[in-house]
Amino acid sequence: MICSAFATILFVWYAYATSVPRDHLVFREASSPTLGVSQEVQLSWAMYSPYFPADVYRPPPPQCKINQVHILQRHGARYPTSGAATRIEAAIAKLKAADSYTDPLLAFVENYTYILGLDDLVPFGASQSSSAGREVFQRYRSLISNEQLPFVRASSSDRVVASAKNWTAGFTAASGFRFKPVLSVILSEAGNDTLDDNMCPSAGDSSPQTSQWLATFAPPMTARLNAGAPGANLTDADTYNLLSLCAFETVATEKRSAFCDVYEELKAEGAFSYNGDLDKYYGTGYGQPLGPVQGVGYINELLARLTSKPVSDHTQTNTTLDSSPDTFPLNRTLYADFSHDNQMVAIFSAMGLFQQREPLDPTKPDPQRTWRVQRIVPFSGRMVVERMECQGTGNEQRVRVLVNDALQPLKFCGADVDGLCTLDAFVKSQAYARSDGAGDFEKCFE
Ligand SMILES: *[C@@H]1O[C@H](CO)[C@@H](O)[C@H](O)[C@H]1NC(C)=O
Ligand SMILES: *[C@@H]1O[C@H](CO)[C@@H](O)[C@H](O)[C@H]1NC(C)=O
Ligand SMILES: *[C@@H]1O[C@H](CO)[C@@H](O)[C@H](O)[C@H]1NC(C)=O
Ligand SMILES: *[C@@H]1O[C@H](CO)[C@@H](O)[C@H](O)[C@H]1NC(C)=O
Ligand SMILES: *[C@@H]1O[C@H](CO)[C@@H](O)[C@H](O)[C@H]1NC(C)=O
Ligand SMILES: *[C@@H]1O[C@H](CO)[C@@H](O)[C@H](O)[C@H]1NC(C)=O
Repeated sequence: MICSAFATILFVWYAYATSVPRDHLVFREASSPTLGVSQEVQLSWAMYSPYFPADVYRPPPPQCKINQVHILQRHGARYPTSGAATRIEAAIAKLKAADSYTDPLLAFVENYTYILGLDDLVPFGASQSSSAGREVFQRYRSLISNEQLPFVRASSSDRVVASAKNWTAGFTAASGFRFKPVLSVILSEAGNDTLDDNMCPSAGDSSPQTSQWLATFAPPMTARLNAGAPGANLTDADTYNLLSLCAFETVATEKRSAFCDVYEELKAEGAFSYNGDLDKYYGTGYGQPLGPVQGVGYINELLARLTSKPVSDHTQTNTTLDSSPDTFPLNRTLYADFSHDNQMVAIFSAMGLFQQREPLDPTKPDPQRTWRVQRIVPFSGRMVVERMECQGTGNEQRVRVLVNDALQPLKFCGADVDGLCTLDAFVKSQAYARSDGAGDFEKCFE
């Protein structure tokens, strides 16, 4: 049996060059499958990118001891949602109706059939979730005992519930079947749910910005495809939907999709990933006036758990669940909540993570931006809040936040060089959440 002190995770470090901006430095868990597509291409799929650590996990400073951990995790890789699938199938039907394929790049379409399912977790997504559970056991095993099993919740959609269950299965297996956490609470997406963005009917969406970007980048690509498939009469939106198949088919089949040849030939990486950046920024992020407020309920739950005090929230929390120690226990050492990308982006924006100097420009990507969706909410992406006590600093608790293993700067609570804020400063910094969204929640219903 390998001693835990040596049970380290090995990373293969891929740096394209030491001079490239930090955003391009990526790390790969040695066991991640390559899926037959380069890592650079996988990392251009934005919210459809599979999880890669965005940095190497650094343990806290040696004088600090973690005493509580909060994980917020996106479901693993999935099939297209039904809306996306309808659009994809329409684009394929047009492409297949072409009179001929004069461009060898499209010759494969003649015998191509679309076979993907809808909405659900794919097998690769299930294995991503179970690896995540395994990693958490290995990293935080000192916090685990039979009295202190992870407390697990999930939003009610099937793929989120399946991710939570695969995560607990991975955790259990990693413990040699000694510790068997279960999914304890499923929050209905038809009701009050801090793990879904289902409660703000007046919130807008990102289509004005993504349409502008589509009109900026796609016309030459669409022209190239239509020239190679006379009669197909594809639109720019069709082009985007066909490009998305590179991601969807690859994660669903764990084999390179034929559409990745199109994706790579059209050099779609930058354009496709920026589409995702705009979609999330203006969907529930800083660019959406009623985006961050949808993350307030979760932040208030997090503050309650961090401070061992009852939840104070008048937004998305279910007060019945949150006032019972069975469904909202305090004083646990490890919490894991399973959610969706849009909701996690709302939560990150409510907290103050990934603030941008300027709003994202819908026609001109800023190469210096840190808003990169593949580093924020890839499939199986996660935020981890670690609470710890540090010797020589009295009894004051400290916190730090990691997103996909990248330590967050937490300027908003005056973090030190190790990324640590005092718990008190962190709580104070969450004034937006503590005020129930400073009047924004009411605007959700205006
Ligand atoms: C499509 O399938 C047919 C029948 O198997 C085959 O003759 C043809 O070469 C295939 N076309 C392409 C482009 O692979
Ligand atoms: C893991 O996910 C798969 C695919 O969604 C699902 O069929 C399976 O039941 C899940 N495993 C567990 C232990 O829940
Ligand atoms: C709150 O949770 C309880 C228990 O799951 C559920 O019966 C109730 O419908 C929920 N209420 C709302 C408004 O979501
Ligand atoms: C191509 O599509 C556009 C709009 O989608 C439509 O107006 C036009 O008539 C179509 N052209 C052909 C040749 O089908
Ligand atoms: C659900 O949320 C609404 C809006 O904040 C609130 O009025 C209602 O009391 C909540 N219901 C429960 C059961 O927490
Ligand atoms: C949690 O722990 C704190 C500090 O040890 C204690 O004061 C509080 O009563 C505990 N709360 C619950 C709900 O167990």
